[in-house]
Amino acid sequence: MKKIDIIAGARPNFMKIGPIIHAIHSHNESNPNESIEYRLIHTGQHYDKKMSDDFFEQLNIPQPNINLGVGSGTAAFQTANIMMRYEEAIKEWKPQLCIVVGDVTSTMACAIVAKKEWIKVAHVEGGIRSGDEKMPEEINRMVTDSITDYFFTTSTIANENLQALGHSSDKIFYVGNTMIDSLLGNLNRLIEPALWNEKQLANKEYLVMTLHRPSNVDGMESLRSLLDIINQNVGNRRVVFPMHPRTQKMYDQLGMNFKNLIITGPLSYLEFIYLIKNSAGVITDSGGITEETTVLSIPCMTLRNSTERPETITVGTNELVGTNPENIVPFLQKLTSGNWKIGGIPDKWDGATAPRIVSIISNL
Ligand code: UD1
Repeated sequence: MKKIDIIAGARPNFMKIGPIIHAIHSHNESNPNESIEYRLIHTGQHYDKKMSDDFFEQLNIPQPNINLGVGSGTAAFQTANIMMRYEEAIKEWKPQLCIVVGDVTSTMACAIVAKKEWIKVAHVEGGIRSGDEKMPEEINRMVTDSITDYFFTTSTIANENLQALGHSSDKIFYVGNTMIDSLLGNLNRLIEPALWNEKQLANKEYLVMTLHRPSNVDGMESLRSLLDIINQNVGNRRVVFPMHPRTQKMYDQLGMNFKNLIITGPLSYLEFIYLIKNSAGVITDSGGITEETTVLSIPCMTLRNSTERPETITVGTNELVGTNPENIVPFLQKLTSGNWKIGGIPDKWDGATAPRIVSIISNL
C-alpha cells in the first residue's frame, strides 16, 4: 500500500492516530524506496481548541492535509456532511487504503464513503462490542466492521467477535492498542495543570471524574442524581471533574453547587493524564479512559451498564458499576477506602502497536 488516508474526527481519535503517523514517518525514513504517502483528514467533528488543536500540538501530530469542517449537529447531519465532503476529497486524490479508528460518527461516515469508492478500509480498534445498540458508538462499530477489509484489534475478544460474525482470520490482526502507544510515549512529558496548585491537590488524595454519555448527561434528572450521589459519598476526597462541552451545557442548566466537586473545562492530554496518574481513582463513562487507568494501575469505576472493553475488567482495574445509586455507593466506599482490586495489563498493550500496524500495511 502506497497511498493512504488517515481519518480523525473527535477527541478520542487523536491519541489513536498520532502513533500511526509517527510510525509511518519512521517507516519512510528506513525504507525510502517503499515509502507510504498519506493524507491526514480531520472531519471537524470536534473543533474547539481544547477538544482538538491542543491534542495535535501536544502529541506532535502534523496539521491535517484537509479539514472537512463539519462541526456540531445531529448524528445524521454530521454523517451526511462528512460523507459528502470526504467524497469530494477522494476525487482529488484517490488513496488505496482508508484507515479509520475507534467508533465515532466520523469513523463510520468515512468508512462508508471509502468502501463505495472501492477503496479498502482498515479499522483500528475493530471488533469490539458493548451489545448495547442504544449507544451511537455501537451502531458505528457494527456498520464500520461490516464493510472493513482489514481489522487491527486491541483484544482477543475482538478477534472472537469478528470470527463469530464470519470475518476470515487472515483479515484480523491482533496488534494491541495505539492509544496506549500515546500513553506510554508521553509519560515523561506530562504537565501539571494549573488547578493542581490552585486547589492544593496532593498525590493519591483526590479522584477524577469524566461524564459525557448522552444517557448520563443529556437528561437533567440523570445528571443531577449522579452528581448528588457522588458528591455525598466520597467522604473527604475531592473529585476533579473536567467537563465535556456536552455535559457543561446540561450542568449550566442545573444551576447547582456540589461542594466536593472541582469543576473545570476540558483539559489538554498531558494535563489530563497527569491528573489520572496521580489520582486515588477514577469515575467515568468513557471507554478509552478505562484502558488508560488499566495500564496506569489506577482504580476505575465505570458508570455504564455495559462495556465494549471487557478486558479492562477481567484483566485491568476497571469495574462496571452501572448508574443505579445502590450499586454506586458501595463501589465508592471501596474506592475511597483504598480497597480496590489489583489489575494487570492486556497482552500487546506495550507501546509498540503502531509500528506493528504500519509493518502489516506496508506488506499488504
Ligand atoms: C463524541 C463521540 C464519543 C466520544 C466523544 C469524546 C460520537 C457518536 N460520539 O461524542 O464516542 O467518546 O466524542 O469526546 O461520535 N462540542 C463543542 N465543541 C467541540 C465538539 C463538540 O462544543 O469541539 C459540543 C457540540 O455542541 C455538540 C456536543 O459537544 O453538541 C457533542 O459533540 P458530538 O461531536 O456530537 O459528540 P460527543 O458527545 O462529543
